[in-house]
Amino acid sequence: MEYMGNKEYWNEKFANRNDNPLSPEKSVVENIDYFKKGTVLDVACGDGRNSLFLLEKGFKVTGIDFSSKALERLNMFAKRNNYLVKTMKVDLSMPNSLNNIETFDNILINHYRLHKNQFKDIKNHITDRGILFICGFGYKHEVDSKIKKEDLIQPTDFEDLKESFDLIKYIETPDDRGFFVTYIFRKRS
Ligand SMILES: C[S@@+](CC[C@H](N)C(=O)[O-])C[C@H]1O[C@@H](n2cnc3c(N)ncnc32)[C@H](O)[C@@H]1O
Repeated sequence: MEYMGNKEYWNEKFANRNDNPLSPEKSVVENIDYFKKGTVLDVACGDGRNSLFLLEKGFKVTGIDFSSKALERLNMFAKRNNYLVKTMKVDLSMPNSLNNIETFDNILINHYRLHKNQFKDIKNHITDRGILFICGFGYKHEVDSKIKKEDLIQPTDFEDLKESFDLIKYIETPDDRGFFVTYIFRKRS
C-alpha cells in the first residue's frame, strides 16, 4: 500500500533533507535488547536512521524501500561511517514483494503499515526466536491530511501471526506528535 504518499512524494521529501540522518526511533533505541543478535531487515527503511543505529550496534542490516533517493542517502551515510549495508529497491504495494527476500533474525517495520496479507508469509522469513518489531501510528492517532486512516496500525493487522509468534511486548505511547504503538513479536521455535 501507499504510505503517506507515492514514490515521487518520498523521493522529493528525501532530496530536500539535509546531509545528516534523523535520530533513530525512540522505541527502537529503548527496546534494542529484544532484538536477536544477527541480521535485520529494515522494511520501508527510508534514509536509514534505524538501519544506521542497528549497524552501530553490530547487526548486519538490509534496508528495503521504494524510494531510490532514500536508499542513496542510506548508502551515503553508511559509507561515511564505514558500515556495510545492503539495500534493495522494493515496492511494498506489490502483493508478492516480500516473496523473494531472504530469512532474517529480525524484521523491523517502523512507520510503514504493511498490508495484512503480507504478514501471512512473514514467518518464513524470520529465524526461530527471531523478532518482528513494528512501530508506528496506532489506531487512536487522529487522522489529518498527511496520516490517513489506512496508514494507522490496527490490532487486527496481526491476526495471522498468532500461529507462529508470541507478542512479547506491546507499548502505547501518546505524545504531542500523536498516538504511537510498538508491537514486539517473537517467533516460536
Ligand atoms: C514515514 S517513512 C519511514 C521511514 C523509516 N522507516 C523511518 O522510520 O525513518 C515511510 C517510508 O515508507 C516508504 N514507502 C512508502 N510506500 C512504500 C512502498 N509502497 N514500498 C516501499 N516503500 C514505501 C517511503 O519511501 C518512506 O521511506
